[in-house]
Amino acid sequence: DGVGKGGHAHYMHKEIFEQPAVVGATLHSMINPATRRIDLGRYGFDAAGLETVTILACGTSFHAGMVAKYWLESIAGLPVHCEIASEFRYRRPPLGRGALVIAISQSGETADTLAAMRYAKSRGARTVAVVNVAESTIAREADAVLPTLAGAEIGVASTKAFTTQLVVLACLAIAFGRARGELDCKAERALVAALADTPDLITEALAGDAHAGGVAALLAGARDVLYLGRGTAYPLALEGALKLKEVSYVHAEGYAAGEMKHGPIALVDKEVPIVMIAPPDELFEKTASNMYEVMARGGQAILISDREQTDRFANGVAASIAMPEAPAISTPILYSVPMQLLAYHAGTRRGTEVDQPRNLAKSVTVE
Ligand code: G6P
Repeated sequence: DGVGKGGHAHYMHKEIFEQPAVVGATLHSMINPATRRIDLGRYGFDAAGLETVTILACGTSFHAGMVAKYWLESIAGLPVHCEIASEFRYRRPPLGRGALVIAISQSGETADTLAAMRYAKSRGARTVAVVNVAESTIAREADAVLPTLAGAEIGVASTKAFTTQLVVLACLAIAFGRARGELDCKAERALVAALADTPDLITEALAGDAHAGGVAALLAGARDVLYLGRGTAYPLALEGALKLKEVSYVHAEGYAAGEMKHGPIALVDKEVPIVMIAPPDELFEKTASNMYEVMARGGQAILISDREQTDRFANGVAASIAMPEAPAISTPILYSVPMQLLAYHAGTRRGTEVDQPRNLAKSVTVE
């Protein structure tokens, strides 16, 4: 029945549709309404003396961290390591006093992320937690907490927690860029204004729900699916593939599009759909050339880009999803939506338990 699901068939679908609201709420919590600037001071946060950033996370939260690496490097000029917590914790990596460790976790209880953060603390690094559960262990033990305001997430496969993590991390990159003199006030305001449009853009993208449901038929019937992207679309490719595996049990791999020629191209035939995450940015033509290579080998390309590009390639691709035009900073947040919808609809078409996939847990508190 629909009790607690607000008329949606599943929590996952409901939570995907909550994103305009929770992305907006999270954004507002980071922006000072008077100055229209990012305000981290109230979270007990100070960027002084920062030299490097290490991001620690697992699963979907790790993919949010990978997007943040691109932002922190390009917007704030900070060197960033993004690490899978279960690997980092046993490597005994050196961390200097200028290191900031960002632990990203929806639940705030993931055992590997907690242990990795404790290790970082023991080495003298400053720690900040990006968590959705304010009273969680990771939140309590971190030096500062930047909350995502996604509200309770019931679906085991993370959706709205991911996009709100991206919002917080984008704001963090802007705040660091400003603190380090990489952005002037005007540039900061332009980025904040661009982010402020994200909730409306997500609403537009959600209008493509039924269309995504049709495209998902291509994935639901496949044995393997490849997801390819460049730049911040690369972590989205990883996340799209993870989501599909989690909720539909279809095998999927995410790859950096430029790596296709180093292996995955051997898989291309008409049986393997290839989801090309290709926002119309300065890397688009490079991803498009990868798509030509796929199509030339009989591969079924599913293009996700803006209307101009999906129209341009309409004759060659197996399917496409046209996205609203968006500023670069909001693109990874916006393009998460079709990743989620494709996985959700592939799962429901295959009759899986999309809210509670087999063998998965919402929060993994053991190693
Ligand atoms: C589990 C969940 C994933 C989640 C991961 C990390 O595997 O099923 O959806 O991304 O844990 O969880 P966290 O709470 O630390 O973000």
